[in-house]
Amino acid sequence: MCIDRCRIIDLPKIQDPRGNLTFIEGGNHIPFDIKRVYYLYDVPGGSERGGHAHKGLHQLIVAMSGSFDVVLNDGSNTKRIHLCRSYYGLYVCPMIWRELDNFSSGSVCMVLASNQYDEGDYYRDFSEFMQARRLR
Ligand code: TYD
Repeated sequence: MCIDRCRIIDLPKIQDPRGNLTFIEGGNHIPFDIKRVYYLYDVPGGSERGGHAHKGLHQLIVAMSGSFDVVLNDGSNTKRIHLCRSYYGLYVCPMIWRELDNFSSGSVCMVLASNQYDEGDYYRDFSEFMQARRLR
């Protein structure tokens, strides 16, 4: 799973003078079925989130409000992506180390996930993650 599989997905946007609408269908707009939704909010300035990789989980990260950066690392390459629009989703495939920082005040980060929460699916130690990548 290399970093090139992670990409910005342009989500459908129904423009309307009453307010815009975006929708996401699992397996259609994103390459997995959605089993869980979680969101980060009330993030204090200067905070960093993430700092882990998933063994099998697929995710879509959306800046529902405000902005933040996602730093991706596949063990060989890194990429910093600034998210600031609720009609763009960042697809993150399994086996990618990610860190989130540079949160603007009032930002909300929504994550759609392909599975329910499972601590056993995490690499929380970077050297353990790197070792697992080398063995693949
Ligand atoms: P974590 O995934 O480390 O957060 P982040 O990557 O955003 O920094 O999760 C933080 C804590 O919340 C951790 O104790 C596990 C718990 N948690 C759940 O119980 N369910 C969930 O769906 C998620 C994402 C986290």
